[in-house]
Amino acid sequence: MSERILVTGGTGYIGSHTVVELQNSGYEVIVIDNLSNSNADVIDNIEKVSGIRPAFEKLDCCDFQALDAVFAKYEGIKGIIHFAASKAVGESVEKPLLYYRNNLLSLINVLELMPKHGVEGIIFSSSCTVYGQPDQLPVTEQAPIKKAESPYGNTKQINEEIIRDTVASGSPINAILLRYFNPIGAHPSALLGELPNGVPQNLVPFLTQTAIGIREKLSVFGDDYSTPDGSCIRDFINVVDLAKAHVVAIHRILDKKQKEKVEVFNIGTGRGVSVLELIHGFEKATGVKLNYQIVGRRAGDIEQVWANPDFANNELGWKAQETLEDTLRSAWNWQLKLRERGIQ
Ligand code: UD1
Repeated sequence: MSERILVTGGTGYIGSHTVVELQNSGYEVIVIDNLSNSNADVIDNIEKVSGIRPAFEKLDCCDFQALDAVFAKYEGIKGIIHFAASKAVGESVEKPLLYYRNNLLSLINVLELMPKHGVEGIIFSSSCTVYGQPDQLPVTEQAPIKKAESPYGNTKQINEEIIRDTVASGSPINAILLRYFNPIGAHPSALLGELPNGVPQNLVPFLTQTAIGIREKLSVFGDDYSTPDGSCIRDFINVVDLAKAHVVAIHRILDKKQKEKVEVFNIGTGRGVSVLELIHGFEKATGVKLNYQIVGRRAGDIEQVWANPDFANNELGWKAQETLEDTLRSAWNWQLKLRERGIQ
């Protein structure tokens, strides 16, 4: 029998792509999600893409009893990939308690239930946000953790500490913390992608919605930063590449290849791309002209950050493969497909 992996938040943007890659690699996947920011029909699309329908349970990881029952129902779960979390930076400033409750309690419940059900490993979705504005670029995993700019960012830092403290206390848990840079793009089938609720806060969804005419104009938040073209710089990572990093990481845990019980990897491309470069890259890749304007800076934005992915490349044996051009084209194809499906 193939090994069972539980994916929390498995109908979300990164989760759904990861479920596909896990299934493609022969894992049996159980998805749980409270559908607070996704739809159950994502399961249908995962099945269309991978040919396998994962088991699905609608529940909130903050519900300890319900989570306990899932572990009991699907006996022998070996590993967990824990995506389930709230992730809107702005919303977290307005509703900090919602963010602390959701993001902390769900992880605490998972960690409490793992030993009870003999689950060995956990992959945790962390973020480059833990570095704040790094003193040195590209940023390595050894860079100091800076004070969080938002409650959302703080939940990532605290959750990393919760995992470390739990493992240090002797709990029989092995963990890999993946610090994502900026995931963008969609599955090449255009059946899976990012579907933000309401007005998108992130750059690429806003950009593709502008290109298709849902939004009138894309605002570029600032062109007076100390960067070559004045706009912010990020490390944009293809979501399928990112999904594959989870498969390699779960393999590493289950094969007992870890050098330490808690390992941290930067998951980025190693290339910094400015917001304006991304816009022009999109226009070139798709032939679609974008209506955009430069406006003032957005509060809380980091000027520039990109990964040193050497540790992930060498130790994990994972490397981002997709070009930025193909990735932007995939984001556009996803937006076109949404229109075809009458969704947006
Ligand atoms: C933020 C978080 C990151 C989180 C991610 C997903 C921080 C520092 N980063 O990333 O941890 O995982 O959101 O929610 O908290 N931009 C525009 N116009 C727009 C939208 C964005 O110019 O309409 C610019 C931003 O100013 C920024 C860049 O595009 O420079 C990327 O923004 P965004 O996609 O929101 O991601 P981050 O803020 O980098």
